Amino acid sequence: MSDRSVLLIIGGGVAAYKCLELIRLLAKRGIGARAILTRAGAEFVTPLSVGALTGDKVYTELFDLTAEAEMGHIELSRSVDLVVVAPATADLLAKAANGHANDLASTAILATDKPVLYAPAMNVRMWEHKATQRNLRQLGDDGALFVGPDEGDMACGEFGHGRLAEPPVIVEAIEAALSGGARPLTGRRVLVTAGPTHEPLDPVRYVANRSSGKQGYAIAGALARLGADVTLVSGPVALDAPAGVSLARVETAREMLAASEAALPVECAVMCAAVSDYRPEIETSHKIKKDRGGLTNIPLTENPDILQTIAHLPEGERPRLVIGFAAETDDVVAYARTKRERKNCDWMVANDVSEAGHGVMGGDVNEITIIDGEGEETWPAMPKEAVAARLAARIADALGQKGRQT
Ligand code: PMT
Repeated sequence: MSDRSVLLIIGGGVAAYKCLELIRLLAKRGIGARAILTRAGAEFVTPLSVGALTGDKVYTELFDLTAEAEMGHIELSRSVDLVVVAPATADLLAKAANGHANDLASTAILATDKPVLYAPAMNVRMWEHKATQRNLRQLGDDGALFVGPDEGDMACGEFGHGRLAEPPVIVEAIEAALSGGARPLTGRRVLVTAGPTHEPLDPVRYVANRSSGKQGYAIAGALARLGADVTLVSGPVALDAPAGVSLARVETAREMLAASEAALPVECAVMCAAVSDYRPEIETSHKIKKDRGGLTNIPLTENPDILQTIAHLPEGERPRLVIGFAAETDDVVAYARTKRERKNCDWMVANDVSEAGHGVMGGDVNEITIIDGEGEETWPAMPKEAVAARLAARIADALGQKGRQT
């Protein structure tokens, strides 16, 4: 890493002080840092302390004639290998997601041709706000990288998500980004399913569930950013296809099975869809009327199990890595373990979809336990985008170890 450098954009938040430690840790690893300090950031740390640690001028103003003479703001944004925004405030994320360029920080983010890693930090309500989550999704689709935020006590006295990731964790993410301009899944075909299925009853009614597709779409996007050739088979949701992903929209479980089989062969299948286990036995082409028997009794019939079908394909046709998701409300991990065996998955990802969970179905946060042949790994609650990025990295590692499927 000794010849690598980052442009650190320090936003305005109480956590800005942690950037001093971050610069120090980077220096220890031989990673150089230049810094832009926003006006709000300068309320929390001084240019003097930042400059003392970077050993460089600290850039603050967009129209700074001396700096323009020495190094223009465009050049500044491209003179490094990675742009790191920490703390990435709600305001900086909003500006970046919408392409604003009205100060040095936002201009550098817009002008850079390098990857951008955001370490968000803000009040929990601001973090959970739909606008912030929308901006995060947009940035994720645009190829941004994220680290954190953590959950915990906040300077404002509240508790929740929004704490800046700890400096050693940010350094880890920086090192991963610097070594991983590499796209370890390049050329690997992956299938992801997402969203609910709608099982029609008549032309106006259907049986469905609360899945929003957010987790599956985030996984598809994260895998594509690692270079995978991703087919996303999605039930009806209100989300756009993530960048670089080929999307097949379906409605029913039977259509999802057909589209999934059409996507084969793949090296990895990530079955995140909440497939309806049952469908109405009879689908009528006319609206069911109250005065002609109504809907007091709906006979159901079982749908095909897509995961089980794919995981039981003969060797050579079966993806090397089959990953199921288990949505449970009680004894979450115990049920997921049994499901892993029954459905012949390599990994089963358990998540708690009870009221006590994080509003996983439809929400923006997930807390998962991965059960594989070797043991179990529980990750702290984090945004679905972050779960996706971490899971994609784990998949890349696993496929790397398994070698390439011919
Ligand atoms: O979409 P979000 O709002 O982001 O929410 C994400 C999620 C909670 C839907 C997701 O994280 C999740 O848990 N997905 C799996 C939901 C589910 O159907 O779980 P299950 O325990 O019923 O099924 C186990 C596995 O079998 C799943 O991988 C499922 O895709 C698969 N399955 C189930 C039934 C069926 N007929 N065919 C299948 O392939």
